[in-house]
Amino acid sequence: MRPQFLPFSRPSISEPEIDAVANVLRSGWITTGPKAAEFEAAFSAYCHAGGAVALCSATGGMHLVLAALNIGPGDEVITPSMTWVSTVNLIKLAGATPIFADVDRDTLMISAEHIEHLITERTRLIVPVHFAGAAADMDALRSLARKRNIPLVEDAAHAAGTEYRGERIGCRSTAVFSFHPIKNMTSGEGGMICSDDPALLSALRRLKFHGLGVDAYDRTMQGRSSQAEVLAPGFKYNLTDMAAVLGMGQLDRLEDFIQKRTLLARRYLKLLAEVDEILPLGQPSYSIRHAWHLFVVRLNTKGARMDRATFMNGLKQRNIGTGIHFKAVHTQKYYRETMPLAAANLPHTQWNSERICSLPLFPDMTPEDVDRVVKAIKEVLA
Ligand SMILES: Cc1ncc(COP(=O)(O)O)c(C=O)c1O
Repeated sequence: MRPQFLPFSRPSISEPEIDAVANVLRSGWITTGPKAAEFEAAFSAYCHAGGAVALCSATGGMHLVLAALNIGPGDEVITPSMTWVSTVNLIKLAGATPIFADVDRDTLMISAEHIEHLITERTRLIVPVHFAGAAADMDALRSLARKRNIPLVEDAAHAAGTEYRGERIGCRSTAVFSFHPIKNMTSGEGGMICSDDPALLSALRRLKFHGLGVDAYDRTMQGRSSQAEVLAPGFKYNLTDMAAVLGMGQLDRLEDFIQKRTLLARRYLKLLAEVDEILPLGQPSYSIRHAWHLFVVRLNTKGARMDRATFMNGLKQRNIGTGIHFKAVHTQKYYRETMPLAAANLPHTQWNSERICSLPLFPDMTPEDVDRVVKAIKEVLA
């Protein structure tokens, strides 16, 4: 009998979480309200952040950051090409120019070294990505940003629960988290911006809801004026209470999720050490707590004498799902055509973009599932 399909990711949703969502549905208030406010407070406390704003996605969050910083035509934003397309799309849509920094070949993260030479008088923002649940080397990035007086906003979509030198991501400066269903914790779709900058937080609050500065809950339930005025044009990126209550349940389980992911990742690392053609990502040399959002490997296509598509297809035939995080942004059709020179400066990004593959990793997986994946990998490569 064929074994059951093992997806590369699956959210772990408990019955109490389902009940909590159902209770919100029964309560008469389902959009942004008390649960979203509680979720903001709980996530902010978890990250030891100055404050937090809950949103419908990290993409929406990055959009608000660009708008709050007034980034537009003539401005440059430095970010890796080895990331999800959302940040780069938003930079383009704002009329600004994305400047791609190459990444470390083994951690897939940018460092101060990779970006210093890219800074010009037009640079308005630096967006490092904490990749796969590891942390970028923030000390050097922060000191460079401070020296050059450029804001730095962390893409923490993969980094709920990640720690850098003993500090949780989100506790300093500004970080944008994602609660998309494949992430370490989910609210269905959702995001959160943590920041220690109260002025930025209040700008983000205003921008996330039409520029009103108060949302429907504030207006009707908190006795605020129902005639709130638009202070500046804004968006509509608020998180519903249905989503927030799920996010809170998941936050309560996040430490347990990370522990389970860590055990599975260690098992992969041990077993894959014997497979020459598979090179897992390297670990940073500085101290981190890895949240193991993804387990990313690189296929030695020469040694394996097969391309990645064949490899992934071989696993699929054995009922094992995989993913690609990421096909580098500069290799996507639009960016290939509009930024044809980008590839020349991104050798590590390019090399990885052609070889990376994410193996199944989610909290409800068993150690036997890991063994099954590794066995299948060996069969495909044989
Ligand atoms: C690195 C990175 N940044 C941003 C995002 C966007 O997150 P969301 O789907 O919540 O908008 C993702 C989502 O996959 C991501 O992986």
